[in-house]
Amino acid sequence: MGFFRVERLSIAFGGLQALEEVSFEVPKGSIFAVIGPNGAGKTTLFNCINGIYRPDAGRIVFKDTEIQGKKPDRIARLGIARTFQNIELFSRMTTMENLMLGRHIFMKNGLFRGAWMWGRRSFAGREEVRHRRAVEEIIDLLDLQAVRNKFVGALPYGTQKQVELGRALALEPELLLLDEPCAGMNSEEKQDMIFWIKDIQDELGVTILLIEHDMKMVMDISERILVINFGRPIVEGTPDEVTNHAEVLQAYLGEDEPASGSGMAGAGAGVSPF
Ligand SMILES: Nc1ncnc2c1ncn2[C@@H]1O[C@H](COP(=O)(O)OP(=O)(O)O)[C@@H](O)[C@H]1O
Ligand SMILES: [Mg+2]
Repeated sequence: MGFFRVERLSIAFGGLQALEEVSFEVPKGSIFAVIGPNGAGKTTLFNCINGIYRPDAGRIVFKDTEIQGKKPDRIARLGIARTFQNIELFSRMTTMENLMLGRHIFMKNGLFRGAWMWGRRSFAGREEVRHRRAVEEIIDLLDLQAVRNKFVGALPYGTQKQVELGRALALEPELLLLDEPCAGMNSEEKQDMIFWIKDIQDELGVTILLIEHDMKMVMDISERILVINFGRPIVEGTPDEVTNHAEVLQAYLGEDEPASGSGMAGAGAGVSPF
């Protein structure tokens, strides 16, 4: 039973053990963070969960269904959506069009075709109207009205990240995977993003699995945190439990290449990232 759990997940690329027996459980409705230095295996973990990679060993269980090794679209249909570390949107399409694409898994009649060809009262027309309504709700929730008809490529970086979040929500996920949603943002954009993430948890009841590089950010919003380093789990627990863990400090302070714009920069300067 349980909502979502990963059991002894392992994957190697050639001689590199990217994940080694990683286990954790995400309670329904919570925000659960995975943190660790660059190259720790965080994105690889997401790629295993959403079916881009097939793990060598271990299990991924979502609402009593084993999903490891299933195809990405199957996993999306089961209710797991994600955003990417590097934005993956169609820059020559509008915000609205990108969000409509997020609903493709629900569409029986192909995109944008139905209503034009058969009129609004046809089945295809009604379906299109339903999808547009769902997308309008997301636009309201994320405050994207002003950019709904703008090309995504022309939007500021922080807004593009927001649109990508919206596209993931368009799938109506129960579990949302966010890969460094605040990476590259200025502090105002970060504050906004944290606000949206909390809103998605509170208002939509979506469970959130969050990858973050910045310790300070996850401390504020996560119920539980898993720290990994070199593909291995170091500690899992509440923010307080994790903060006091010696190996966590070492993993962060040990990194000699400070990452710009994150809590890691402080660590590189010899200041506690917490
Ligand atoms: N497809 C791949 N082929 C080879 N190596 C990979 C592949 N994907 C990830 N890796 C390696 O796995 C390790 C973990 O990468 P990643 O999961 O992206 O780290 P993180 O997201 O924590 O920064 C890195 O050493 C990376 O180079
Ligand atoms: Mg990554």
